[in-house]
Amino acid sequence: MIVIDKENRVFTLRTKNTTYQMKADQHNVLIHTYYGPRVGDSDLSYLVRYADRACAPNPPEAGLDRTYSLNTIPQEYSTCGVGDFRLPSIEVEYPDGSRAADLRLTDWEVERGKYELDGLPFFHGAEGSTLRLYLEDLAADLVVELTYGVFEDCDLITRSVEVHNYGKAPVRLCQCASLCLDFLRSDLDLITFNGCHLMERAPDRAPLRSGIQGVGSVRGTSSHQHNPFVVLCDRDANEDYGLCYGAMLLYSGNFQALVEASQYDNARLVMGINPCQFCWTLEPGQSFTAPEAALVCSPRGFGQMSRQFHRAIREHLIQDPHAGARRPVLINNWEATYFDFDADKLVDFAKTAAPLGVELLVMDDGWFGKRDDDNSGLGDWTVNQKKLPGGLEALVPRIQALGMSFGIWIEPEMISEDSDLYREHPDWALRIPGRTPARGRNQLVLDFSRPEIRQHVYGQIKAVLSSADIAYVKWDMNRSLSDVWSAALPAERQGEVYHRYVLGVYEILDQLRRDFPHILIEGCAGGGGRFDAGMLYYTPQIWCSDNTDAIDRLRIQYGTSFCYPVSAMGAHVSAVPNEANGRVTPLETRGTVAMSGTFGYEMDPNQTTPEEREAIKQQIAFFKEHYDLIQRGDYYRLTDPFANGPYTAWEQVAPDRREALVSLVSGTIHAAAPFLTLRLKGLDPQLTYQVNGGASYPGDALMNAGYPVPVMTGDYQSLQLHLTAL
Ligand code: GLA
Repeated sequence: MIVIDKENRVFTLRTKNTTYQMKADQHNVLIHTYYGPRVGDSDLSYLVRYADRACAPNPPEAGLDRTYSLNTIPQEYSTCGVGDFRLPSIEVEYPDGSRAADLRLTDWEVERGKYELDGLPFFHGAEGSTLRLYLEDLAADLVVELTYGVFEDCDLITRSVEVHNYGKAPVRLCQCASLCLDFLRSDLDLITFNGCHLMERAPDRAPLRSGIQGVGSVRGTSSHQHNPFVVLCDRDANEDYGLCYGAMLLYSGNFQALVEASQYDNARLVMGINPCQFCWTLEPGQSFTAPEAALVCSPRGFGQMSRQFHRAIREHLIQDPHAGARRPVLINNWEATYFDFDADKLVDFAKTAAPLGVELLVMDDGWFGKRDDDNSGLGDWTVNQKKLPGGLEALVPRIQALGMSFGIWIEPEMISEDSDLYREHPDWALRIPGRTPARGRNQLVLDFSRPEIRQHVYGQIKAVLSSADIAYVKWDMNRSLSDVWSAALPAERQGEVYHRYVLGVYEILDQLRRDFPHILIEGCAGGGGRFDAGMLYYTPQIWCSDNTDAIDRLRIQYGTSFCYPVSAMGAHVSAVPNEANGRVTPLETRGTVAMSGTFGYEMDPNQTTPEEREAIKQQIAFFKEHYDLIQRGDYYRLTDPFANGPYTAWEQVAPDRREALVSLVSGTIHAAAPFLTLRLKGLDPQLTYQVNGGASYPGDALMNAGYPVPVMTGDYQSLQLHLTAL
């Protein structure tokens, strides 16, 4: 709900549990007065206090009032060059070379329904509402439109920013953040999610220190290394207690999330496109739209924050028909065959997998062009007739005849030098004139900022997807961008290439989605190198990591779950010893971990024993039976796998709290094991729950006293407890 006090120009955004407030002050500066647990709609600007701080500039409107300085008051969208020395949100360069932005509120509008963005991902939903605030830089004919979306039930507030050049000369936008959030305190912890290929999104928590800290990416993707999602929280916040703020950016390219703890113990979070390598020219009459950012404030710890993000992503980000649809249990041939497969081998996979309950066969890398290893073929999106005689027209009906649907892997943004496409168009790869571009996985990157290049690639892919009944596409991207320069843009616009590249990727994903709405797209970038909310708008699930080891996955999926729901996390059971780390874990444990993701298999089903096939059949039956609970239930982290405790546990609870599933995976086992109890969460204290059809326990006892964890023998065992209310 949006409440506006017109007289005092106070703008209050109200969600179920939170309040967000801004106010245009006596000088029309838009100050941020409050964001936190829900309070009334009264003017909270009494929280903002003023003092004469030495050396702080005072804007001309303040006259001789030396207590009024942009450098000390909380800003809704921080400016630059005119007296606020903390992190800027916007930096504009004018024809005379000056760099400044000075913004004053001039107007506002309220709309029913949540606003949409053109060419960028966004949260959607008629139940949302929209507030637009217009800020003008009077000296420059520049208008900055701050737009807010409010989803009350999810406690979600979205933000986007559009900059309009109404002047007579072009200006250069050197920074245009999506989000600025000022706090009247700095005694906060910052949590970021970091890692590398094979070990993505490990939480890192540290108290704010004086000065600037944060994360970002200059790899052209959101990256394995840092995620465009950060949390600021009370120093003593935990899963169930304390105030915390989650901030995400719906963007899949270079981003930056910085926090500055400043001199008077205030803090500012600024998040958006990374200004490094970014500069956008705005001609007169043109506008620039920054990617959307979204916030959840939870007054009750990380668990509630995560559940609100999960719900918002499931209900307002993922698009139909996949938002509500059941996703298939799949088998992917990658770890089983790598490039060494043909049509008969795939059909043999399907013959064994279909009776086990697997619903979709995914043919991974190697089906096109001359692609027998990862040194060639990218860019030639035509079926390799040696491997697949008669093409997909021949193969897909054979898979379907076994009762399974068919999916395919693509990597549209890339080009191998050993490809027909490269021989024909060597100039289509990103490269800087006079330099030889760096290879990554022995491939180059296509200049997706150029429409003719992306349309050519898409044309090829569209033909393949139209040649047979394809149900699923895995869109991969296996290297970071380097040598970024586009032949299509003049020298002074080269700072636009990274962002135009991302817009190009979004355009093709959107086209793919519109042309083949029934196709489920799974995102991937060397595993989880582009796991962000921007991609989730187009690809309802994303391969979480190339690391399929169940024990490492406990950490990866734990970190990922702070923002992203189970239904977004691509997770498969693979063969042991695991190819990433050589670990051997029980099949049951691999199943338990993978089914708290999109669930599938990535192994040769014909290399399994009859007992293993029976176990797989049961896993799949269990998953399907509890699909709604697992995929759409409220998610609770019960332990932290980074704490190296005796086990890792998590739980999904049905919205009506009459059913829950607890999953537990032990670490390495020691003799003389202590008796452990696990305290559950989210149950109805008044109800009694039966566990796995056996003993019953009161909900309040399970949550406060705990469940007696059976003593397990052998490393990495797992347990699933299905609770039903009596
Ligand atoms: C990436 C993906 C893998 C697989 C290979 C194929 O590494 O993450 O799942 O698709 O590419 O080359």
